[in-house]
Amino acid sequence: MTSTEHTTVQGATAFIPAQASPYQGDIARYWDQEARPVNLRLGDVDGLYHHHYGIGDVDHAALEGTADGACEKKLIAELHRLESAQADFLLDHLGPIGRDDTLVDAGCGRGGSMVMAHQRFGCKVEGVTLSAKQADFANRRARELRIEDSVQARVSNMLDTPFDAGQAAASWNNESTMYVDLHDLFAEHSRVLEVGGRYVTITGCWNPRYGQPSKWVSQINAHFECNIHSRREYLRAMADNRLVPQAVVDLTAATLPYWELRATSSLVTGIEEAFINSYKDGSFQYVLIAADRV
Ligand SMILES: C[S@@+](CC[C@H](N)C(=O)[O-])C[C@H]1O[C@@H](n2cnc3c(N)ncnc32)[C@H](O)[C@@H]1O
Repeated sequence: MTSTEHTTVQGATAFIPAQASPYQGDIARYWDQEARPVNLRLGDVDGLYHHHYGIGDVDHAALEGTADGACEKKLIAELHRLESAQADFLLDHLGPIGRDDTLVDAGCGRGGSMVMAHQRFGCKVEGVTLSAKQADFANRRARELRIEDSVQARVSNMLDTPFDAGQAAASWNNESTMYVDLHDLFAEHSRVLEVGGRYVTITGCWNPRYGQPSKWVSQINAHFECNIHSRREYLRAMADNRLVPQAVVDLTAATLPYWELRATSSLVTGIEEAFINSYKDGSFQYVLIAADRV
């Protein structure tokens, strides 16, 4: 996949996949410049760098402590544990994966989920991201872990990947579907997946039962420059692209403890209230959808 260098009016430069839209250029620059402590300090705990949220109960015993510095360190480790639990839950839904299989991580970020997938299955994992900085970061981590022959990130548009048709035994999006049109996205997953392969996403989506995106959902969209889809849109776009849901798991209650803990930390980003309120008023849901490519 070829890339071109674009310089914005503000002077920020990003290597953007050829034929990317202006919006995708904005997203590439956003992730190139992203260096929030909440992401980097959590990744520093064990070298798995995530850009997604956590699930599961908080281990309050693990947070006990007196000295201020120690408390903060424990809190960071606990948030990170919940984020890795989220990635583990996604991997649990990929089905049986062999060492000779290839997996595709669409919107791979700094590569934490890819490393976990390789460590679990021993197979090849190919990731794509719009951000050259993220791809470099993920590839550097793979070299440090001596798994660069199996784990590779590249700068590519997930709607137009360099992978062969039917190449992947499974593919996923971990919190990266809100940047793209779902029909275009699922058409590409459907092309890349082998028949009988598995697609999994974990994502936030607005709840059709609420009616329309709430003010909290609009706030999250503005904060991340994204476009959160409804649960209904996911199921419709999958059905139109030979992806048949095998499991739909509502993780909203499971992610709330993570957000409530995060809101108490020094790493707050200002968006915590919107997540907590929208999960509580039922307008927003955190879901896993696993689908079979038929
Ligand atoms: C919230 S981060 C999630 C990163 C990663 N999946 C994780 O769980 O840590 C969103 C990611 O989606 C990627 N992304 C957004 N639109 C994309 C596109 N059209 N093609 C490839 N990657 C894209 C961004 O570059 C970023 O890496």
